[in-house]
Order: sequence, then C-alpha cells, then structure tokens
Amino acid sequence: MTAQAVMRVMLEMQAEAGLPASETLDPQDWSRVAALAHRIVDDAVGHVGRVRERPVWQPMPETVAAAFCGPAPECAMPIEEVYRLVKDNVLAYPMGNIHPRFWSWYMGAGNFSGALGDFLAAVQGSNLGGGSHAAALMDQQVVGWLRDMVELPPTASGTLVNGGSMANLLGLTVARNAMAGVDLREEGLAGLERPLRFYASDQVHSCHRKAVETLGLGNRALRRIPSDADYRIDIAALRAAIAEDRASGFQPACVIGTAGTVNTGAVDDLAALADLAAEEGLWFHVDGCIGALVAISPRNGWRVRGIERADSIALDPHKWLHAPFEVGCALFRDRVLHRQTFAVSPEYLKGTARGIASGEFLHEYGLQTSRGFGALKVWMSIMEQGTAKFGRLIDQNIAQARYLADRVRANPPLELLTEPELNIVCFRFAPDGLDEDALKALNTEIMVRLQETGVAALSDTTIGDRHCLRAAICNHRTRYEDLDLIVAEILRLGQAAVPTVAG
Ligand SMILES: Cc1ncc(COP(=O)(O)O)c(C=O)c1O
Repeated sequence: MTAQAVMRVMLEMQAEAGLPASETLDPQDWSRVAALAHRIVDDAVGHVGRVRERPVWQPMPETVAAAFCGPAPECAMPIEEVYRLVKDNVLAYPMGNIHPRFWSWYMGAGNFSGALGDFLAAVQGSNLGGGSHAAALMDQQVVGWLRDMVELPPTASGTLVNGGSMANLLGLTVARNAMAGVDLREEGLAGLERPLRFYASDQVHSCHRKAVETLGLGNRALRRIPSDADYRIDIAALRAAIAEDRASGFQPACVIGTAGTVNTGAVDDLAALADLAAEEGLWFHVDGCIGALVAISPRNGWRVRGIERADSIALDPHKWLHAPFEVGCALFRDRVLHRQTFAVSPEYLKGTARGIASGEFLHEYGLQTSRGFGALKVWMSIMEQGTAKFGRLIDQNIAQARYLADRVRANPPLELLTEPELNIVCFRFAPDGLDEDALKALNTEIMVRLQETGVAALSDTTIGDRHCLRAAICNHRTRYEDLDLIVAEILRLGQAAVPTVAG
C-alpha cells in the first residue's frame, strides 16, 4: 500500500472516531490564490518596469502612516484585501532605492530576477543552518563565486550573512580570536595578557565601532589613523601607531583596510597594508562592502589590487551586485580559523552519514543558526546576466561619477569637494559670501527639496569641516541624462533658496 493510500485509510478512521480535521494555513482554494499571485506578479512587473515614471520618494499622508499603528487582528481577512492594503500603503511609499535617480547613502538598486529569487527562496523554504539539500549547495556555490571574484584561493571559506555590518563583525571576530594568543572562546577577554588593538583609517565605517564594542574590546581598541589628502589611510602614521602601541603594552592585532570608504569612496593602498600586516604579524581585514567587487570590473579592477592578500573580507552583494536587500558575505583565507571561531556541535545538531543531516552544518561558520536562502537571488541574477555584465556596470557607475564631477566643475557656483575615485561624488552649491553654517543650511534645504519633489535622492556628509551633498551612484538604472537633470535642478533650487538662507 502506498503512503497516500495509508493516509486515506487513516483519515477515514479519524472521521469515524469523531476527531476534528486539522487546521492549516494553506488556502482551501488554491486556484483563488493562484489568480491573486498572477495579479501580484503583473503589478510587480509594472512597479519595476515603470519606476522611472514615478517620483523617487514621496512623503506619506498621515492616514497611511496611521494604518501601521493598529494592533494585530484576531480574525481573518481575505488575502485579496490584505494585498490591497500592501499595494496602497506599502508599495506606493518605498524608500526609493530602485529608482534611477536614487543616490543616497550607499545602496544597490535591486533587480527583478533577484526579487523572483527571493520569492522562490521563500516558496522552497529551506533553512541554511545546514544539511544536505540543494539550497545549501547553492549557498556554498555563491560563496565560492564571490571568493573567486576577489581572487582568494579556492581553499578559502565564507558565509552569506544579512549585510556588510554583520560580515565585518564576523571578520573582526575571527581576527580577534586568531590573534588573541589565548583560547578566547574559553577564557574570554579576561584571559588576554595585553589589550588588543585594531587599526583603520579615520574614514572607517561606523559598523566597525559597533563591532569592537560588541566584541568587548571597546571603542578605544579601534585606533583611527589619520587619512591622507585623498582620504586613504596614512601608512606611515599607521606604522608609527603600531610601534607606539607595542611600546605602551598593547597587542596590535588587526589592520582594517577599506576598499571604498563610505564618505568619498577612497580605496586604501591595500597592497601596502598587506605588506605592513605581514611585516608586523597582524591580521589583514578588508572592508570591501563598497569596493571589493570592483575587482571584477575590466577598467577599474586594478584599484583594489592587494585585496586578494587579505585574511578576511567583508563584501555586499546587495550593493554592486544589486541583489534585493539583504545579503552580505564574509570571506576567510583560513577555513580552519574561520570554523574554529564559531563551531559548536550540540546534541540536537549532530550530523549523520546519510539523510538530511549528512550535509555540512553551515551554522558553524557564523553567528546565526537559522539562515535564509539569500543565495538564490544572487545566483539567479549572476546566471542570467553573467559576471562580465556586472563588471561593466561597475565601470559604468564609476564613469558616471566622473561625468557628474565634470558637470559640477563646469557649473559654478557648484563646488567639487573631492575627485571621485570610485562612484561617490561630494559637492555643494557654494555661492560667494556664505559662511560654512549658511552653506550647510542651503545645501540641506536643496537636498530635502529634491527628495520632497521626488526628483532625486542625494544624502549629505561632512568632509573635514565642510558639509556637502553626496551622490553614491550604485545604480544600474542611472543614465547620463539623470545626472544632467540633477545638476540643472540643484542650480535652480540653489538660486531659489539663497535668499531664504542668506536672509
Ligand atoms: C564601507 C562600508 N562598510 C560597511 C557598510 C555596512 O554595510 P551594510 O549596510 O550592508 O550593513 C557600509 C554600508 O554602506 C559601507 O559603506
């Protein structure tokens, strides 16, 4: 008798015994759900396909914001009605980062195949904690592809995480444990003979501060080394700081190089850092969240030479691979040190020679036990587009940043603050006669008006003591004419706003 036949008999016996039918979340009528799902896909194609026609961002009416304050409903609602709420209140008010003129902070622009990948990953439902199943193999394949892109050796290991901050945390955790000189997992920080010191430039991303604080080392354990005129770490100052720390009884442990700083996109001299780390016997970690994948770009790959010598690398497929949020990756040259930092094997997670638990337990390579199938969206878009196209798109964004910088130079009173090395342009509207405070107020006003009118999204930062607008062009939908438009709009808004600010 087949299992299905046995189930039928069991159901009949259950009915005879008067047991209630079991409840489930599955619909009673799958065809109704299928009709809605088809409608959702049609709407989604329209949403992405016509993104250029919509404002980048729009403020939410109060009625919409209020819709998110209600309590969880106790009773059921038809799924069609649930979707209507999502469409009206959520899809209509996005952050805007899939729009061609979104250049705020640092985001990728997503891609439709990746979105389908996220849907299919949820449908397939696998947990990437480990086991013998296709999703786990694909997860490791994607890690291998990313490893190859930055040219770490085939023996290197890695894990997909939810983003760059987590990838950096994992990198610094392995660095800490590998360099501690004691069994840090058993002894904790109390077992250290001398306090550990990590080094990065004063341009290092704020996630590293959170990482050293979380690791119990404290913010002061991360020494910020001055950067040079191009915002790259000053190697001589780094060397001096390491010597000074050794002399003062600290234990230098790790040098963090940044491939693409968040403020200006500067790339530290990674080859020089690799040399210095080797000479000093330090761990070499690269924060490549912005720039690691420049390695695959035909015209700019040379800029991140030396990354292949790192002990650990953090990178972000949700930036220049445009995977829908969220997916990051931590890579490690030494698989053993990587695994040793995180592996635990409790009695309820033991492997077996055959069956589902015969695959590797991937949770032994990171902090999460359960992990989503983020690899699928990366895999699908790389399979569809090929790595060469992603490399060309990176070159395209870097060329667009140069174009914007040229347009800024050609249009006073726009002022270029830094020559872009990658895809970040820092500039401002700077008419004569305004002091720094007034310029900040003026440029903030321009930035907010651009957002509120839905024309474009820029963010701002402060370089040295000069506030500026910042365009981070990590967007495969951006065209050169979008950059012409933003220059024209900033000139127009700036002229209009000057009297308000100056007055
Ligand atoms: C240089 C750098 N490191 C780390 C991060 C943090 O990455 P995530 O936002 O994916 O956590 C960012 C984010 O933009 C970044 O630019």
